[in-house]
Amino acid sequence: MDKKEIRFAVLPSAGFGTRFLPFTKVVPKVLALAYDRPLIHFAVLEALAAKIENIIIVISEGQESIKQYFDSDPQTEKNMRDKGLGIIAEEFKSFREKLNFVYVTQEAQLGLGHAVLSCEQLLVDEPFAVILPDDLLINPQPELIRMINAWRQHQGNYVAVEQISSEDAPNYGVVEIATKQHNESRFKAIKGMVEKPVIGAAPSNLGVIGRYVLMPNIFDAIKVTEPGAVKEIQLTDAINACIENVATYAYLIEGVRHDCGTPHGLLRASIELSSQSK
Ligand code: G1P
Repeated sequence: MDKKEIRFAVLPSAGFGTRFLPFTKVVPKVLALAYDRPLIHFAVLEALAAKIENIIIVISEGQESIKQYFDSDPQTEKNMRDKGLGIIAEEFKSFREKLNFVYVTQEAQLGLGHAVLSCEQLLVDEPFAVILPDDLLINPQPELIRMINAWRQHQGNYVAVEQISSEDAPNYGVVEIATKQHNESRFKAIKGMVEKPVIGAAPSNLGVIGRYVLMPNIFDAIKVTEPGAVKEIQLTDAINACIENVATYAYLIEGVRHDCGTPHGLLRASIELSSQSK
C-alpha cells in the first residue's frame, strides 16, 4: 500500500565542516549560528512546519553536542523566558512535544548518499524528506510543505532546485528537464541528474539545493551506487539511477536559499535574518 504521508526527515549533519575551521575543531558545523539560531534549529523548525514527526539526525562520532542541543534542559529554558527569549523557549517546548529525535552515527564520511543509507533501518517502507541544514531557505511558506503537497498528488522522488550560473555548476547536482510536465508549473519532470558537472557540461541551469522527498526504494539504488564526484557516494547518482522507474521532479523554490556551507554564505544568511527580525 502506498504511504500517503511523510513522517520522517533525515538531517545529515556529520560533515567535518572543513570550511569552518577552526570553529569546527570543537563545535559541529550545524550548530553554527545563522543570526540567532543554529543552522540545525532552522532545519528542525522547517520539519515541524511540514508536520513531520520524526527527526533522524545523522551525526559522526564526537558530535554528541548536537543531541545535547535538543535534549530537554528546563533550567536554560527558564533562563530564556526570564531574559525575554520566550519565543525560543516555546520552540524547544514544541520540539519536545511534537517531535521524536533519533540519532544515527555515520561511521565514515563517505558522502551524502552514504549518510542517507545509514538511516535505512529506521525507514522501512517509509517515504521521507531530507533536509540539509547548511542550505538555509528563507520563505514564510516553507518550500518543503509545497514539495510534500505535490508528492501527495504524484508520488515519486522530488528535489528542490534554484537557478545557478554555469560557473557554479561544479558545486551542485544539476537536473535535466524532461518535456513531460507536472501539473504545477514550479514542478518539472526530470529525466536525468549529474553531480558536480564540469563547466560547460551541465544539462540545465537548475542546481539541486538541500531539500528532497524520496521514495524508500532509494536505498536499493544507494547500495549499488559507486563513489562518484569527489569520490563520494552521491545521493544525486542514486536518484538518477531510479529515474526510469520512479517519477522524478524538480521543484523550483520560490524563496531565497543561502549556502551556509561557507562562512560567506552564513554571514549573508545572518544579515538577511537580522534585517527581517527588526
Ligand atoms: C550536496 C549535493 C548536491 C547539492 C548540494 C546543495 O553537495 O550532493 O547535489 O547541489 O548539496 O547544497 P555538497 O554541497 O555536499 O557538495
